[in-house]
Amino acid sequence: MRHAGKLITFEGPDGAGKTTQIQLTAQVLEESGYSVVRTREPGGTRLSEAIRQLLLDPCYKEMSGVTEALLYAGARAQLVSEVLLPALAAGNVVLCDRFVDSSLAYQGYGRGLDLEMLRVINTFALHKLGTFCTVLLDLPPEEGLGRSAGVAERDRLEQENLSFHRRVRDGYLILARDYPGRIKVVNASADPRLVQEQIQEYVMAYLTGRDQGGAFE
Ligand code: TMP
Repeated sequence: MRHAGKLITFEGPDGAGKTTQIQLTAQVLEESGYSVVRTREPGGTRLSEAIRQLLLDPCYKEMSGVTEALLYAGARAQLVSEVLLPALAAGNVVLCDRFVDSSLAYQGYGRGLDLEMLRVINTFALHKLGTFCTVLLDLPPEEGLGRSAGVAERDRLEQENLSFHRRVRDGYLILARDYPGRIKVVNASADPRLVQEQIQEYVMAYLTGRDQGGAFE
């Protein structure tokens, strides 16, 4: 199925400034005449937001890695069918705060779950999504955790130890190395204005067809 619209996903650790950067990107695109839809993962639909509550509540300490991976994939499948496919078919530019690379980075590299199995369940969840482009806001985990909420307010994933977050970061960088056509790395430690400039360069290259992006594989 061919889509008129385009999907751009934003990845990186908590505290990398994704929300602010996505908001700025949306503003710039709207001013240039693009019709923009913003969404997030896990979440973005009534059902996916309910799954988000389960996933992030620190009270579910017993949640197994496999359960976690399947819940993320379930929330994703609902977002794809209910929001992403219709928005792309209608010609929108969709900006998504986190997507499937989060599962490879957190559940794969962070938790140590089988990467091939994660690819299989997520290929199923993505349905016929096609190509997209990913902006990875790269930041050392120490910096990201320092910028985000205090320990008491951290969600179940944020409460993981530093070595978990280091594996997540390294995982993201491995993915960026393996899929250079789709994943573009931006240094999120830089001044936020420079970060935004770099993002706009990548985003415009993709929207104008200079960059092709890639499919999830
Ligand atoms: P957020 O706070 O950026 O919205 O993301 C929620 C948390 O969920 C964050 O710590 C990253 C984590 N996460 C995964 O572990 N796997 C996934 O597939 C996604 C989408 C998020």
